[in-house]
Amino acid sequence: MLVAPSILSADFGHIARDVRAICSGGCDLVHVDVMDGHFVPNLTIGPVVVEAVAKAATQPLDIHLMVENNSFFVDLFAPLNPKYISFHLEEEKHPHRLIQKIRSLGISPAIVLNPHTPPEAIEYLLEDLDMVLLMSVNPGFGGQRFIPSVLEKAKRLKAMIEKINPECMIEVDGGINDQNIAELRDAGVDVVVAGSYVYNHPKSIKRAISSLKK
Ligand code: DX5
Ligand code: ZN
Repeated sequence: MLVAPSILSADFGHIARDVRAICSGGCDLVHVDVMDGHFVPNLTIGPVVVEAVAKAATQPLDIHLMVENNSFFVDLFAPLNPKYISFHLEEEKHPHRLIQKIRSLGISPAIVLNPHTPPEAIEYLLEDLDMVLLMSVNPGFGGQRFIPSVLEKAKRLKAMIEKINPECMIEVDGGINDQNIAELRDAGVDVVVAGSYVYNHPKSIKRAISSLKK
């Protein structure tokens, strides 16, 4: 299981320190939540701050766009050389075109599904995707409760992926902790995003990450 801590729960007064802490604590990806105040009722960070994150990070960036104008934001973040850029299916008229654009920039394209969106909605996109991100909370905020229906959705998606594009990974985001990690693994999930669990762990960030990996 790969772990992608979300820096949304970091202390932005000490962002470089908090990014280094997850990288030295054994994370696989640095998950960056970009929110525009339109697609979701919250506003986070743009390229100026993400550049500081990229400089501090020793692991690749996984940029999760929660925005209205995806193509514009892909252009903004592409120069920072992230490994993944994911965008929401619910907010994109031409997802296939955007996937091709992200790949042409040398970035792995990923698509995000909100809790209500069935995996069948991306059947004809799967062969072009490197990762599918399933939301296990409604996007916009850290620290929300895990929505368990994502487990059945991940299993359905896994069956589709095995037929269409076995290389494509499944990532799940929201409300993940050491209590639900085993069910996610059993459902075929490859990557978990965890914000509050990692940054608010009573012992240490390193302990939090290793408890999700084992
Ligand atoms: C929610 C974000 C998540 C969030 C995860 O919109 O996409 O990445 O920060 O935080 P936790 O793990 O606290 O639910
Ligand atoms: Zn996220």
